[in-house]
Amino acid sequence: ALPDIQPSNLQFVKTGNPKAPPPSKSLMFGHTFTDHMLTIPWSSVEGWGTPKIGPYGPLSLEPSCTVLHYAQTIFEGMKAYRDEHGKVTLFRPDMNMKRMNTSASRIALPTFNGDALLELIKKLIHSERDWIPREPGHSLYIRPTMIGTQRFIGVAPPSEALLFVICSPVGPYYPKVSSPSRYMELRNISVPLPVVCRSIMSLIPALLIQRTTKGTGAYKLGVNYAPGVMPQKEAAKMGYAQNLWLHGPEHYLTEVGTMNLFVVLKKGDAIELVTPPLDGMILPGVTRDSVLALARDHASGASKISNLPEKLIVSERAITMKEIQDAEAAGTLVELFGSGTAAVISPVNRIGYLGKDVLIPTGDDGMGPISRPIWTELTGRQMGTIPSDWSVPV
Ligand code: COI
Repeated sequence: ALPDIQPSNLQFVKTGNPKAPPPSKSLMFGHTFTDHMLTIPWSSVEGWGTPKIGPYGPLSLEPSCTVLHYAQTIFEGMKAYRDEHGKVTLFRPDMNMKRMNTSASRIALPTFNGDALLELIKKLIHSERDWIPREPGHSLYIRPTMIGTQRFIGVAPPSEALLFVICSPVGPYYPKVSSPSRYMELRNISVPLPVVCRSIMSLIPALLIQRTTKGTGAYKLGVNYAPGVMPQKEAAKMGYAQNLWLHGPEHYLTEVGTMNLFVVLKKGDAIELVTPPLDGMILPGVTRDSVLALARDHASGASKISNLPEKLIVSERAITMKEIQDAEAAGTLVELFGSGTAAVISPVNRIGYLGKDVLIPTGDDGMGPISRPIWTELTGRQMGTIPSDWSVPV
C-alpha cells in the first residue's frame, strides 16, 4: 500500500514575516488569514508525501491542472475556540475528517487517515493560537481543502493532488445590522442542486437516473457552491439575503443559502422540529447533526435543555412549500432557520415565494422558542462554557 499521511514527518518552516492579528472587531468572515498553512502533496505513485507547515502564501499551479478545469476540489469548514484561560478546542473535528474522505471518494481524489490529518491540523492551530479571537461569536475558522493538481486536461481521476489547510480568524458570518433587516430574507428559486454531467448520461443511463435526481449535494464539493452565487445576487437585488433551494414539482425545501434548514411547526400541544432527511441531496452538516442530537436528547429526556418546550417531536422528513404556506395560514409556523458551521444558526423571517411573502415570526434577537435555547446550548458547548464530549482539546 502507498504511504498514508505521516504526522511524524512534519516539516515546520516558520514565516520570516509574521503579522499581528487584527482587532477582533474588524474581522469579517473569511478575509483574514494567519501566518502559516499546512500542505501535504499526494501522487498516485508515491502516496501521501511530506506534510509541511510553512508561511501562508500563493500556490504554484500549472494552468493545465485538473482543479482549474473540472473543479476537482473539496473542502471542509471547522472552528477552533480559545477560552479565557487560553485553552484551545475544536468542535467535533472527527465529523469533518470523515466527511472530507467521503467527499474525496465522490470525486476520485485520494482518501487519507483522518486521525493523521487531524493531528497535523492541531499542530497548525497550535502554531496559530495567538490568532484565535476570544470574544463571543468569534473563532478561528479552519479550511481544509483538497485539489487535483495533475497537469492534464482529460477528465479522469488526477494522478496528483494537494491537501492544504488555511486558517482565518472570524467573527459572526452575517454582520449584525439593526433589526428587523438583520434577519435572512429569502426568495424561492427553483434550481435543482448540481447534476451529473451529460457524457456519463449516455454511458450508464441506469445509474444516471438515480444520480440526476440527487445531484452531489450530500458531498462538500467546491462545484456545489459556485452555481449558487448568481442566484444570490439576483435575490439581493430583490431585497432578500439568501436563496431557499427547492426541489422537484412538489417544491420540497432542501437547504437555505449554504446552510442546512430547519422548520418549527406547532402540532397540537407539541412542537415539531423538522429538517429534510439525508437522502443524497442534503449536506450532512455537523451543526445540523448537533441540533438534531440536542433536540432528540431533550425530547427523550436523556439530557434536558433549559427553556426548550417539553413536548418536542424531532423529524427528519420531507417538507414542501405547501406545508409551509398552510402552516402560515393556520398560525402554526413557529420558526424557520438555517444551520451551519460558519453562521451556526440563522433565523429566517420572510420567504418570497410565487410573488408573495411567507412571514415567519422572529423574536427581538431574531431567534424563536426552539432556536434560542438550542443556540445557547450549542454555542456553550462550542466555546467550552458547557462541558461536552464534542469539544476536543487541541
Ligand atoms: C457553512 O459553514 O455553513 C458553510 O457552508 C461554509 C460556507 C463559508 C461555504
